[in-house]
Amino acid sequence: MNILIKNVRLLEESGERKDLYISGSRIAGVGEKPEGFVPEVTIDGSHRLCMPGLVNGHTHAYMSVFRNYADDLPFEEWLFGKIDPLESRMTPEQAYWGNMLSFMEMIRTGTTCFIDMHMFPQMCVKACADSGLRALITRGLVGADRNDEGGLRRLKEALDEIDYAASKPKAHVRFGLGPHAIYTCGEDYLRFVAETAADRGLPINMHMAETRKEYGDCLLEHGMSPVAYVQKLGLLDVPAILAHCVYLTDEDMEILRAPGISVVTNPASNMKLGNGFAPVARMLKEGICVCLGTDGASSNNALNMFRELGLMTLSQKGAAEDSLVLTAEETLRIALDNGYRAAGLAEEAGRIEAGKLADLILLDEEAPNFQPKHNWKAALAYSSTGYEVTDTIVNGEILMRDRQLTTIDEERVNAEIARAVKDF
Ligand code: NI
Repeated sequence: MNILIKNVRLLEESGERKDLYISGSRIAGVGEKPEGFVPEVTIDGSHRLCMPGLVNGHTHAYMSVFRNYADDLPFEEWLFGKIDPLESRMTPEQAYWGNMLSFMEMIRTGTTCFIDMHMFPQMCVKACADSGLRALITRGLVGADRNDEGGLRRLKEALDEIDYAASKPKAHVRFGLGPHAIYTCGEDYLRFVAETAADRGLPINMHMAETRKEYGDCLLEHGMSPVAYVQKLGLLDVPAILAHCVYLTDEDMEILRAPGISVVTNPASNMKLGNGFAPVARMLKEGICVCLGTDGASSNNALNMFRELGLMTLSQKGAAEDSLVLTAEETLRIALDNGYRAAGLAEEAGRIEAGKLADLILLDEEAPNFQPKHNWKAALAYSSTGYEVTDTIVNGEILMRDRQLTTIDEERVNAEIARAVKDF
């Protein structure tokens, strides 16, 4: 489809207004009309700010069914006492609706791509195909060693899912392997996952150095930090997405600087579960590709990346007792440039330029919390609630037009979710 967004303010062009042309899945022109372009849809951009969609670097989309269900608990009790038992009773259908609920919130608050770790094969792919969102999907893997039956089954499901996606041409998805964490996977199993990822050319997506206990246990058991431990096992020899990284040594910082490694910080989840503050400002200064995620809706409890932007910058300033750490500009770089890099999309998307994928959002410039119009980057980092987003476009397809979702029946999703949680 050809879409013309007329006279829209572009975040990247220091707030200049231009016409934006989208053709098929890509941006066809910025300010300059491509030859022979005839718009099928025209959007008036005169009160709109346009920017690349946000990338949620770490979430578990199916988990929105657990939102506001298990709160104010210690980490171990939350995960092993409440969430794990419920998850083991959950059906794939419930997971599908959990995904769709998450996608409603993502589309409404300007997320166009997310990196997911899930426990329900195919459901996230199916929901992506139905909703039009872009994703990097990783099957969560847990196992003792390379002969562990459950561990092998989960790994097979991860690989089968890639074949399944080939039958869903509408799904804009890529894949990786998701070894859950060093405390849920044995050493030999982690080596095996690393070998499989290298063989298949897949990235890995893993929880890393999230809690003080994980860090301390790893030191006791393996005589090294969690980051050094997974490096030893070969997990960092493939592109790696490491969620959390709250507890790091100076040596870990060196390791994480390698190209191909992305760290995803999840400030709301870390604060809510009492896990502390990741050294985000330091990582950025060290040249580490640190991006931003929400984690699942059970430990956040929102999948709203604008809310997360604000929490990240404010918590970093507060924890460092320094108002200069993590400026609005740096905050947006983390959420945009580094997010696209983590998702493997740095070349293809993340900029409003001809030839890039049309993954864009429009925001209402006239929202009261955006007045007066002094500084758009500050408005986005400090003032935005996420619900100023009016239009969301992924791969050239309009998923929300003037605050109306076009691919998801919200009433149906809410009804299915209400039905699903009756079993809890
Ligand atoms: Ni997580």
